[in-house]
Amino acid sequence: MYPPYVKVVEVGPRDGLQNEQSIVPLHTKITLIEQLAAAGCQYIESGSFVSPKWVPQMADSGLVFKHITRHPGVHYSALTPNAEGFRAAISSSVDEIAVFASASESFSQKNINCSIQQSLVRFQPVLDMARAHHLPVRGYVSCVLGCPYEGNISPSKVTTVSKSLLDMGCYEISLGDTIGVGTPNKTAQLLNKISEEIDLKHVAVHFHDTYGQALANVLIALQHGVTVVDSAISGLGGCPYAQGASGNLATEDLVYMLNGMAIKTGIDLHKLTQAGLNIMQALNKPTQSKVALAFKSHI
Ligand code: HMG
Ligand code: MG
Repeated sequence: MYPPYVKVVEVGPRDGLQNEQSIVPLHTKITLIEQLAAAGCQYIESGSFVSPKWVPQMADSGLVFKHITRHPGVHYSALTPNAEGFRAAISSSVDEIAVFASASESFSQKNINCSIQQSLVRFQPVLDMARAHHLPVRGYVSCVLGCPYEGNISPSKVTTVSKSLLDMGCYEISLGDTIGVGTPNKTAQLLNKISEEIDLKHVAVHFHDTYGQALANVLIALQHGVTVVDSAISGLGGCPYAQGASGNLATEDLVYMLNGMAIKTGIDLHKLTQAGLNIMQALNKPTQSKVALAFKSHI
């Protein structure tokens, strides 16, 4: 019923740190990424080649990629919204890129300043260039279980956008519950609808924990056959264009649950939790991971 292995995509250095109010020093980002790799994370979204006017927190992504010590077997990825971002990603020798669309028109306008259809048109050259460079491309779809501006989002809309991204050449679609409003029932409805048109082996889930539903939603996704889950160390994150969105599902909590279900991830929970405590100390903020809190009370 459950898969033997889950691919955990660690998005903390990008989705987490992009949301910090103050600029995080370069060396702090590098230390975090290196400690995540040392803990066994094999997929680390390490930066974002977007406009620094829109997301100043990611302005030094080129330097992050230049200075990290790369662990063999680890995939270091970055977001690229357009050709300019793609060129920067190539100069930084990223292993994988991601384009990001939305299932909500309003969110698309706020996040990337264009309609959903225009965003797909803009991504096409990125996908074409990626194919020429043999670079895998992940496609994000935001607001799959609700939008801060439009409320409910229909599962058919999510399916249409996801299918377009796959047809354009993305190898995997990450379904983002950007504001964390999803519940197990809504997650099941969405995955049932999507699976009518898309093989769920191409689908990842990306939950935010605003209402404490993220792990329950992951469990439902695993029951439906999904084997790729995004999470952020210490539950970092939110979304600069989605007011009220709290952090991503904490990687420590995800790995604890998967360990308890005898599902392999390749991640050492002890080292992971220590990496999380270190970044929270550097940010001078409390962790959002329940596992990290329990771990801390034992040391
Ligand atoms: P724009 O302003 O509409 O368009 O931005 P533009 O192409 O006219 O560019 C304006 C300026 O930005 C120009 O500079 C460009 O050169 C520059 P100027 O001439 O004014 O000096 N520019 C760039 N600079 C560096 N790198 C680039 C780049 N592109 C343009 N790649 C654009 C359109 C898409 C670029 C902008 O809206 C943008 O960067 N948005 C990024 C938004 C973002 O990163 N949001 C967070 C990620 S999405 C997310 O977090 C959700 C997700 O995690 C899933 C979930 O949680 O559910 C994925
Ligand atoms: Mg997120």
